[in-house]
Amino acid sequence: MTQHYPQGSAPQRMFGAQAAAYATSQVHVSDDRLTAMRRLAVEWAAGNGGSGGWVIDLGTGAGFTAFAVADCCRQVLASDITRPMLEQTRRLGLERQVSNLSLSQNRAEALPIASESVDLVTCRAAGHHFTDLGAALDEIRRILKPGGALIMADSVAPDDAALHAWLNDVEVRRDYSHVENRQVSVLLQMLADRNLTIQHQEPEQTRMTFNEWVARTATPEAEVATLRRDFRNASPQVKEAFEIQETADGNDLSFAWPCLIFRAVKE
Ligand SMILES: C[S@@+](CC[C@H](N)C(=O)[O-])C[C@H]1O[C@@H](n2cnc3c(N)ncnc32)[C@H](O)[C@@H]1O
Repeated sequence: MTQHYPQGSAPQRMFGAQAAAYATSQVHVSDDRLTAMRRLAVEWAAGNGGSGGWVIDLGTGAGFTAFAVADCCRQVLASDITRPMLEQTRRLGLERQVSNLSLSQNRAEALPIASESVDLVTCRAAGHHFTDLGAALDEIRRILKPGGALIMADSVAPDDAALHAWLNDVEVRRDYSHVENRQVSVLLQMLADRNLTIQHQEPEQTRMTFNEWVARTATPEAEVATLRRDFRNASPQVKEAFEIQETADGNDLSFAWPCLIFRAVKE
């Protein structure tokens, strides 16, 4: 495993401690976002001679997106800032007998990859953790071949400023490595600024339950209590936007974060 980053950043502390939980988290193992990303990768490969070529999966976590695209490309590099996450990727990749997988520990904002050498970049549920998403997009643009593609799925925020603030406030209290769920218009502008042209986009929702959501990040119990209170006491507008509801047994809450899935091409 190549390593290009010193230890100790917020995502390394959070995801390093919680790597095993992410390796079994249902919304990460398989969900509609992963199905849609695989479909977009297969379509893209079909239009490029049948192979996705050389693929890099950024913020790979336990590797589920890398595994989902492995059979439609020549080689997939699963890359992440957090070594214990990559150890989960290695273990699961062996279990799943993914033969064209390699691993690299690096920051998405500083990729040790030659310019114009990569056919496809994938990135699921990770961009909102990157310290500097703009710098990561600069790197994606730099490493992609002309005509290469970025397929990304990430949680986003509603346009409404109060809803954007509420969502990011609860996320950062639950997970200190959270940076920002951006408004769709902001994310699209960041792509346009880099001549990454959207070919396809689809909105999606990630449905979760509160108890599993805070368990996955080992949020301290005192914060869990205030978060649970804030979900229960949220305004009608917040409850409607994020579909916050008590579960049928009354022991949990369910909710849904908005998500954007897209394929953009480097012009
Ligand atoms: C929620 S997990 C990603 C899940 C995974 N992409 C999947 O499809 O299952 C977020 C990952 O982003 C990684 N990460 C956070 N900041 C990063 C950065 N600046 N560069 C690279 N990886 C980063 C974390 O270590 C973590 O493994």
